Amino acid sequence: MIQYIVNLILFFLPSSRLFSLKRLLLTFSGAVVGKNVRVARIRVNAVNLIIGDNTFIGDETMITGGKSTVTIGQNCDISSRVSIVTGTHKIGSILQAAGEGYSENIIIGNGVWIGCGATILHGITIGDGSIIAAGSVVTKNIPPGVLAAGVPAVVKRNLF
Ligand SMILES: CC(C)(COP(=O)(O)OP(=O)(O)OC[C@H]1O[C@@H](n2cnc3c(N)ncnc32)[C@H](O)[C@@H]1OP(=O)(O)O)[C@@H](O)C(=O)NCCC(=O)NCCS
Repeated sequence: MIQYIVNLILFFLPSSRLFSLKRLLLTFSGAVVGKNVRVARIRVNAVNLIIGDNTFIGDETMITGGKSTVTIGQNCDISSRVSIVTGTHKIGSILQAAGEGYSENIIIGNGVWIGCGATILHGITIGDGSIIAAGSVVTKNIPPGVLAAGVPAVVKRNLF
């Protein structure tokens, strides 16, 4: 219920301003929010959320799923319309393909840049300093310091 109210307030606040108020609101809803975190109009549903210092999260980014934890490191840039989704289903039957639901933690390392419209699926860890290209769907862990792109995202090259 608190998350619902906070999401509603965030929706009506300006995207690129009032960051301290937004930090306060997220903290009130149970998130652990570092110093100088800036979020636009994001939506958080039913996940424990930890955001490190100096991280930015863009407009219409959705952090959702079951009761798992999403940890986002320090100095990250998470762009707009990124989906970070901890929930999934076991494969069910021909009558209902989406079987029993479950969720898994997601860890986004320090200094990661995630391009707009990317999707990060359940159980994924993205290593420090990596870049996820716009529109990618991350289905497997990504090591530190690489550029990963595509659907599904694959490592294209080492960055540093
Ligand atoms: C990843 C990105 C930074 C490009 O980096 P780059 O070093 O110039 O990468 P390149 O153009 O050399 O591409 C490297 C490889 O990744 C692929 N690639 C790059 N961006 C891609 C994308 N969005 N989707 C799929 N593949 C992509 C290229 O096709 C190339 O593949 P190849 O080596 O098999 O030919 C850029 O494509 C991107 O996604 N930027 C995010 C923009 C954004 O979200 N802006 C919002 C504000 S943060």
